[in-house]
Amino acid sequence: MKVLVINGPNLNLLGKREPGVYGTQTLQSINDKLATQAHQLDVEISFYQSNHEGGLIDKLHEAMDTQDGVILNAGAYTHTSIALRDAIAAIKIPVVEVHLSNVHAREEFRHHSCISPVCAGVICGFGANSYSLALQALVSGNQ
Ligand code: DQA
Repeated sequence: MKVLVINGPNLNLLGKREPGVYGTQTLQSINDKLATQAHQLDVEISFYQSNHEGGLIDKLHEAMDTQDGVILNAGAYTHTSIALRDAIAAIKIPVVEVHLSNVHAREEFRHHSCISPVCAGVICGFGANSYSLALQALVSGNQ
């Protein structure tokens, strides 16, 4: 099984960025732990991060023919991007929406997700474990 982890805008700053909200782990350390988990689950995992909406969309398109599932933290584009929603709807592989923080316990503008209706499921509020739970969900859904 092949899984791609996509992180959107500002997530390259994890570790330094609002640690009280997003924790102190860097994106690299989150990815390293996911890679270990993936190895144990016999999953081929890869990672992509971009601060640009178009880059995220191009990567989703590419994933359609190369991956069995995607874990997506779209950052703030979650709440604004119809283009990202359309890209997820267009590809036929499952996409799991993840967030480190519990977006529903935060500002009202974070309560709405443009992408949830076209995702296979949503995991939020468990910090770095949100990614790990998403990986487990994709693997068990593939069995
Ligand atoms: C986030 C939540 C979003 O509202 C925010 O814009 C982010 C990170 C999270 O992982 O908690 O950039 O997706």
